[in-house]
Amino acid sequence: MSRFGEPQDAAFRRLNDSISFDWRLSPYDVDQSLAHAAMLAAQRIISAADEAELRRGLEVVRGELADGTFPFAAGDEDIHMAIERRLTEVAGPVGGRLHTARSRNDQVATDVAMFTRAHAHDAGQRVARLARTLIEVAERHLDWPLPGYTHLQRAQPVYLSHHLLAYVWMLIRDRERFAAVVAACGRLPLGAGALAGVNFDTDRHAVAAALGFSAVAENSIDAVSNRDFVLDYLAAAATCATHLSRLGAEIVLWSSEEFGFCEVSDAWASGSSIMPQKKNPDAAELLRAKAPRLVANLSALHGVMHGLPLTYNKDLQEDKEPLFDSCDTLELCLEAAEGMISTITFRADRLAAAASDQFLAATDVADLLVRRGMPFRQAHGIVASLVRTAVTQGKPLSALTRDELVAASPLLDDEFYRLLADGAWLETKVSEGGTSLRRVREQLHHARQSLR
Ligand code: ARG
Repeated sequence: MSRFGEPQDAAFRRLNDSISFDWRLSPYDVDQSLAHAAMLAAQRIISAADEAELRRGLEVVRGELADGTFPFAAGDEDIHMAIERRLTEVAGPVGGRLHTARSRNDQVATDVAMFTRAHAHDAGQRVARLARTLIEVAERHLDWPLPGYTHLQRAQPVYLSHHLLAYVWMLIRDRERFAAVVAACGRLPLGAGALAGVNFDTDRHAVAAALGFSAVAENSIDAVSNRDFVLDYLAAAATCATHLSRLGAEIVLWSSEEFGFCEVSDAWASGSSIMPQKKNPDAAELLRAKAPRLVANLSALHGVMHGLPLTYNKDLQEDKEPLFDSCDTLELCLEAAEGMISTITFRADRLAAAASDQFLAATDVADLLVRRGMPFRQAHGIVASLVRTAVTQGKPLSALTRDELVAASPLLDDEFYRLLADGAWLETKVSEGGTSLRRVREQLHHARQSLR
């Protein structure tokens, strides 16, 4: 019997059905149903014999879902109803007992929490793997100088290891964020029923323990309405993808002939259909471009949740596609970043040539004057005038004459020329977190410790 006198409109079905995407929840749905049935039997809400039949049936259904033989039916609205329908076909009328003391509202919240937890855990591992790869590349290029940039203008030289480690720290923070998402998935919604709790003395803690939740949601209304953990995953994923976009963007710039700092391996590049000389860093470009899509997924779910009255509303079905898309996109991007970075080659000659630009030492010359007693602001002005003289005459700072130096400041002597000799300006960056080799080695050690 049905409450309805008319069949559903075909367009309504297309709008309302979620089976086309929520089939991905099926392994979690089966696990959840097994734990639920076991609890119902332990609490004597269903018989042990019924539970055994449900378990056998659910294992058959799990096998069909796993090997692709599960017979989806035209009327299946979502994965929960499809599994219960099939269970009843396989096990008989006992299948109808599975939904005792459960609603699709607490069921779907539980499946989504389990899915999110698994993918947050996976993202944390992928992030750590990429961070370790970056550490290895940093170690291989420990003392390769390159210009550091501000405003995309050459600013001060740094070691390539130091630059790459900047990304490692972003990823270490991403890993912490994903660990927080795992924790946010830790309270079991199941047992809330439709919204008010259920008319049976269930044991929610037993179900929580069986499914790896550390606690149960305290409020049944909150339990069926809460999607904070999805927002948390989407936010962590958006931030992580934003980090990858900055890495990708730098690889794109650096692999241009104008920079010429690096070359991505052939496995991570593509050619042009018309220009035979081209080797394009497409993977890096796509890392750059994917981030806004993950931000949009976060924004979409914020839009769904905004102002949504308690408790369950069908709006909540719109949590899944943004979540699935962010998981798929982020996991692929992390895998690609890992592959691209582990096979990239850096060009020592080009990096060294760019890093030996003497104007990068301007701050260091100013600090020389500071060490001789001059206030920094005044030293800044004097070095600016020296730079201007050199730029106007089209020569490097070291080609300024002694007379030109002394005219700018009597405090300047041969130490000026010594300071401009190769590399000296990196090893003087001795402050904690700076680019001198001793500090970079320290940093490498801390990064490795953080990833343990
Ligand atoms: N497909 C639904 C969803 O994803 C499952 C829950 C349906 N609950 C309901 N009361 N209609 O949200």
